[in-house]
Amino acid sequence: MGKLNNKVAVITGAASGMGRATAIRFAGEGAAVVVADLNEQGGHATVRDCKEQGGRAIFHKTDVEKEAEIRAAIGRAVSEFGRLDIMYNNAGIAGALGPLEEISAENWDRTFAVLLRSVFFGIKYSIPEMRKVGGGSIISTASIAGILGQAGPLVYSVAKAGVIHLTKCAAVELAKDRIRVNCICPGGINTPLLHKHIPGGEATTLQLLQTTQPLARPGTPEDIAGMALYLASDDAEWVTGTAMVVDGGFVARGNAFAQQSAFQVPSKWSGPSFEKD
Ligand SMILES: NC(=O)c1ccc[n+]([C@@H]2O[C@H](COP(=O)([O-])OP(=O)(O)OC[C@H]3O[C@@H](n4cnc5c(N)ncnc54)[C@H](O)[C@@H]3O)[C@@H](O)[C@H]2O)c1
Repeated sequence: MGKLNNKVAVITGAASGMGRATAIRFAGEGAAVVVADLNEQGGHATVRDCKEQGGRAIFHKTDVEKEAEIRAAIGRAVSEFGRLDIMYNNAGIAGALGPLEEISAENWDRTFAVLLRSVFFGIKYSIPEMRKVGGGSIISTASIAGILGQAGPLVYSVAKAGVIHLTKCAAVELAKDRIRVNCICPGGINTPLLHKHIPGGEATTLQLLQTTQPLARPGTPEDIAGMALYLASDDAEWVTGTAMVVDGGFVARGNAFAQQSAFQVPSKWSGPSFEKD
């Protein structure tokens, strides 16, 4: 008996990294999953892996910068699997990089569109569907960068702080509908989003993450999938409005990111991890 039997989930950013690991975990626990991402190749690979777990999954090409596409992904869950129980707003990019005085209004807005406005739409369009089934669980990926002042690029960090506060406000408003709203604040997780920015790629990232936090090993997408499963499941029935930190003790230690220089790159735009900058 899976923890998510008969539940239906939409996961954005599920073609890679933690979204992909969560889709596979959810499918293995009995959920039907809509894999919503810009990356078609990665999305189809996730669907294949979900099916290998004996689960049901489909890919729905989605750009979370676009309101209509988030709405359509949720609509697809309902048309394909009959309902929506779990919405995981997870898609992400690093977005605007570089010193504050060099960040353009356009790159500020775009970073916010992908990282924060998309979460607003994900919550907004989940509400009517979750009401129909008597409640649901909305999860979003924030970051420890949304808690600390020096754990990620500036605009990214401000947007993630917005995700944490949106989570709290929405949780209070939606509790009457038995819709729980929580977010996860990962620390350094070994995914393409991070490799893209660390000179030396995955090998250097792994080395860096070995010692950055008190629990001395790199964070994995599966560490996040485990927390997402808890929040999605009935085990978390009385849990709402929280920002669950999954970071190997990084925030608890209270130090600035030792490798902060990794983010001190020239001013530029950084899009989805599967695209070349
Ligand atoms: N890796 C880390 O250390 C870390 C730490 C804290 C938070 N996060 C957050 O975790 C989430 C998942 O990132 P990840 O580390 O697994 O990276 P990833 O690059 O492996 O996965 C992110 C996914 O989002 C997709 N995506 C990007 N822009 C999109 C768009 N406009 N529409 C639809 N899909 C889009 C990408 O194609 C990709 O599949 C992000 O929100 C990220 O900000 C990452």
